[in-house]
Order: sequence, then structure tokens, then C-alpha cells
Amino acid sequence: MKAIILSGGTATRLFPSTLAISKQILPVYDKPMIYYPLSTLMLAGIREVLIISTPRDIGPFEELLGDGKALGMSFSYAVQEKPRGLADAFIVGQDFIGGDRVAMILGDNMFYGQGFSAMLKKAAEREEGATIFGYPVKDPRAYGVVEFDTEGNVLSIEEKPEQPKSRYAVPGLYFYDNDVVEIAKKTQPSARGEIEITSVNNEYLRRGKLKVELFGRGFAWLDTGNPADLLNAANFIETVQTRQGMYVACIEEIAFNNGWIDKEGLLKQAEALGKTDYAGYLRSLVRE
Ligand code: G1P
Repeated sequence: MKAIILSGGTATRLFPSTLAISKQILPVYDKPMIYYPLSTLMLAGIREVLIISTPRDIGPFEELLGDGKALGMSFSYAVQEKPRGLADAFIVGQDFIGGDRVAMILGDNMFYGQGFSAMLKKAAEREEGATIFGYPVKDPRAYGVVEFDTEGNVLSIEEKPEQPKSRYAVPGLYFYDNDVVEIAKKTQPSARGEIEITSVNNEYLRRGKLKVELFGRGFAWLDTGNPADLLNAANFIETVQTRQGMYVACIEEIAFNNGWIDKEGLLKQAEALGKTDYAGYLRSLVRE
């Protein structure tokens, strides 16, 4: 299975911080935001990743992540000329996807919690159909929202409904079989002129091939939309890391644990990071 990280957008709600740089390059506590979604894909066992961004912003991602070899992975890059909607990623990424199954994660979506890796592996192993997730939030109006019947079957997904039919928002993490390319191509733009991921998910639902996995109480799906969200996310990461002495979204650690790089590879990464705590953390993993 391959994966796409969609890191476009103008992030107007973070102006002036994002006037000259992509939101997904900004730090969340001690590492660039894109490390978080990247780490999610790595936990799912995915090694081939396409990063899609705007013509202005693609450069810094390439500079930050390179070709992926240092992590035992393979990164490619593509430009989305105009923000045509999330599902456009499968059209932009068509050549990259080829005949494979593909996951997509939004470059600003951060997940953290026990049992997450197992959920991801299960979703990545499913050969057919689509797997998306539901996450209860206080106010789901800014998201795709899942509607269930009394038996818990999914009835529909609505994009940013004014009157949500449940508290379950759909996070920006999706797993698809290869049909997604053809479905995305046939999807008509919505009222806001975008080919919506929600339309794609509804098509899988119509075909009887949509699986919705629910996240439970205490699991963290964090938002980074405005300055307060960004600070709260950073504080959350700092709190967890400092308390447990284990890093969240440390891509080098995950590559090492997955057996994609060895101790030498890990130390090489540490060297490039100078005298930071992050580098010290990588060195401590080798000693363990
Ligand atoms: C997008 C999707 C929405 C989803 C959300 C998750 O919304 O359209 O269905 O719930 O991401 O972050 P956007 O953030 O592009 O408005």
C-alpha cells in the first residue's frame, strides 16, 4: 500500500505565520507538523509516500524530507496547481498510485493514543473497499460527519452540516483500494467548487464497501487550524513527551522500530540534529 500526504492550502486562519511558509512546516512543539501525519503512515507500515503541496510550498518539504532513504522509505513530490479539493489528490497522484491501494492523510492531522498502530495496520491490510474513522467531538460542524442508524450502521456522511446528525467527525485519514482513482475522477465539484473526499466516501458507502472505525474516549485527534489550536497541540505533545520520556511522532524511531534503518542509520540522523534533545533521544534509543 502507498500513501499521500496532502499539504496544500493557504492556512489563512494562521496569518501572518503562514504568509510565506506552509502551515505543515511550522513546528508543533519540537518538530515540523508534517512529522505527525508521516509518523501515522509509518505506523501503518507504509513506506512509499507522495507529498502534495502548492507550487510555492513544495520546495521546503523536499528540503526537509528528501528522498526518504535515510528512513528506509521512498518519498515523491507533486504539485497541486490549484486547491481543487481533497479528492483531487488521487488525480494528481494517479501515476504514483498506479495499480496499488492508497491511504491519504491531511498534513495537519495529528493522532495519538494507545491501540492506534493496531487500528492502522488493520486498515492498511484490508484488500478491498475503504476504511475511514469516526471521532466524537463537541462541535462537528466544521467536519465531515457520520450518521448512524440505531444499530450502528452508517447511513450517510455529510460535509460540514449545519445540523450534524451525530457527534462523530471524520478525521483526515483514509484508506482506499485502487477504485478511488476512478471514483475521484467521476466526482462532481460541490457547492464550494471542490471535489470532496466526503463524496468519495459516500460512493464507497453506496457500493457497500465503506468501513468506519470509531475512536474511543481519551484518544487524541488534534486540530491545528488557528493559533490557539496550534499552541494546545504543542502543549499536549510537550506534556506527554516530558512525562513519559518517549517521543510522539519521532519518525527516525519508528523507522528503527520497523526495521527500516539500523543503529548506524539512527546515529547518522542524530548527528545531523546537533546538540538538541531530539538528537539525544535518538542516541538514547541506540543505547537501549
Ligand atoms: C476536510 C474534510 C472533512 C474532514 C476534515 C478533517 O475538511 O473535507 O470531511 O472532516 O478535513 O480535518 P477541511 O479541513 O478541508 O475543511
